[in-house]
Amino acid sequence: MSESATAVLPPPAPAARTPRTAPKTMKATVFHGVGDLRVEEVPRPVPGPGEAVIRVTLTTICGTDLHIVRGEYPVRPGLIIGHEPVGVIAELGPGVTGYEVGERVLVGAITPCGQCRACLSGQHSQCGHGAGCEAIGGWRFGNTIHGAQAEYLLVPSAQANLAKVPDDLADEQVVLLADIASTGFGGAESGRIRIGDAVVVFAQGPIGLCATAGAKLMGAALIIGVDGDDRRLEMSKRMGADVVLDYRKTDVVAEVLKLTGGGADVAIEALGTQETFESCLRSLRPGGTLSSLGVYSGKLQVPYEAFAAGLGDHHIVTTLCPGGKERMRRLMEVVRHGRVDLTPLLTHSFPLDRIDEGYRLFGSRADGVLKVAIRP
Ligand SMILES: NC(=O)c1ccc[n+]([C@@H]2O[C@H](COP(=O)([O-])OP(=O)(O)OC[C@H]3O[C@@H](n4cnc5c(N)ncnc54)[C@H](O)[C@@H]3O)[C@@H](O)[C@H]2O)c1
Ligand SMILES: [Zn+2]
Ligand SMILES: [Zn+2]
Repeated sequence: MSESATAVLPPPAPAARTPRTAPKTMKATVFHGVGDLRVEEVPRPVPGPGEAVIRVTLTTICGTDLHIVRGEYPVRPGLIIGHEPVGVIAELGPGVTGYEVGERVLVGAITPCGQCRACLSGQHSQCGHGAGCEAIGGWRFGNTIHGAQAEYLLVPSAQANLAKVPDDLADEQVVLLADIASTGFGGAESGRIRIGDAVVVFAQGPIGLCATAGAKLMGAALIIGVDGDDRRLEMSKRMGADVVLDYRKTDVVAEVLKLTGGGADVAIEALGTQETFESCLRSLRPGGTLSSLGVYSGKLQVPYEAFAAGLGDHHIVTTLCPGGKERMRRLMEVVRHGRVDLTPLLTHSFPLDRIDEGYRLFGSRADGVLKVAIRP
C-alpha cells in the first residue's frame, strides 16, 4: 500500500475566521494610573490560535475594579479592565471548534485553560496558565480575564470558556453569573451547606447577596443576612434571608447564637475584614464551617478562644470565583429554570462612554446602587 506524500503531513492550520467588515479599532476603558481611567480608541484585539474575540453587549463594574482604580490592586498601566462579559462571537482564532461567529456567549471572570495541572486536578480557579494572569499582592489569582469594559474582548482558551447563552435568556439575566453569582454561590457550595442548615452571611454587598441566594439554593433552613445598609438588608430578604441583622444596632454574634440555638452550621464571610472573619468564627457551632469569600488586606488573625484553642473541629474554606464554560452553563440553567433571579441587583445602567459616572456611583454606594450595567 502506498501513502501519498501529503497524507503524512499535518493539515495546514485553518486561518482565523474573521468577518471582512471587522473594525480595526474599538472603544475601551483603559487604566492609566491611580484615579485615572479613560475611555479611548485602542486597537481591536485579534484572536490567535485557541482564542476568540467577542463583541461585548453587556458588562458591569466589580468591586475589584474599584480596588484597581484606587491603586489597592496593582495592575500595569495600559490594561483594559473589566471581567464580566456577555457578548456575541465576532471572530474565532484557529483551532476553536463547535462555535460560529454571531453566537451569543457568556464568559466567566476566571478563564481556566482546561489543560494545566490545576485545571486537570479540578481546581480550575487556580489555573495559572496564560496571558490573563495578573500578579496581585505578590501572588497570582487564577486566570482573571481583562478587557470586558470595551467594545471587543479577547477570550483566551476559548474552547474552555465560551458558554453559549440559551435564546430564552436575556443578557441582563446572565451577566452577573460571570463573577458575583459564581463567587457567592461558590461560597455556599464550598461551605457544604446541607438541607436544614442554619447559615449566617456577613455582609450583603453584591457578593454576600449572591451567597445568601446560594444558601437558599443549597437548602438552608434558616438564613441570616448581616449588613448595615437598610436597602441591602431589604435586598437580602429578597435574595432569601429569613432574618436580617444590622451590625450597627445589634450584637450580631449573640443574636445568631440565640436564633440558631448554639451557633450556625455555616458562616459565610463576604467582606474581607478581621472583624467579620472573627464574627463568623464566633457565630459557628462546634464543628461548623467558615466559608470565606472576602479578599483581605494585611494580616488576618485567628482569635484563640473563638477557635476553641484549636479543638473546635472548625472548617475554614476559601473560594475564588469558579469559571469556565461548564460552570457558566450550570448557572444559566439555574436562572433559566427560575431557581434564582439576579436582575434586581442590576440597579443602574450607563453606556460605555459614560462609564466614569458608573464608577463614581458604584464607588459611592449612593442611590441604592448594587451593580451597574455597562452597555458598549
Ligand atoms: N472570592 C472571590 O472570588 C471574590 C470575587 C469578587 C469579590 N470578592 C471580595 O468579596 C468582598 C465583598 O465584595 P462586594 O463587592 O460584595 O463588596 P461591597 O463593598 O459592595 O459590600 C460590602 C458590604 O459590607 C457591608 N459591611 C461593612 N461592614 C460590615 C460589617 N462589619 N458587618 C457586616 N456587613 C458590613 C457594607 O454595608 C456593604 O454592603 C470583597 O472583599 C471583594 O474583594 C471576592
Ligand atoms: Zn470581580
Ligand atoms: Zn489551567
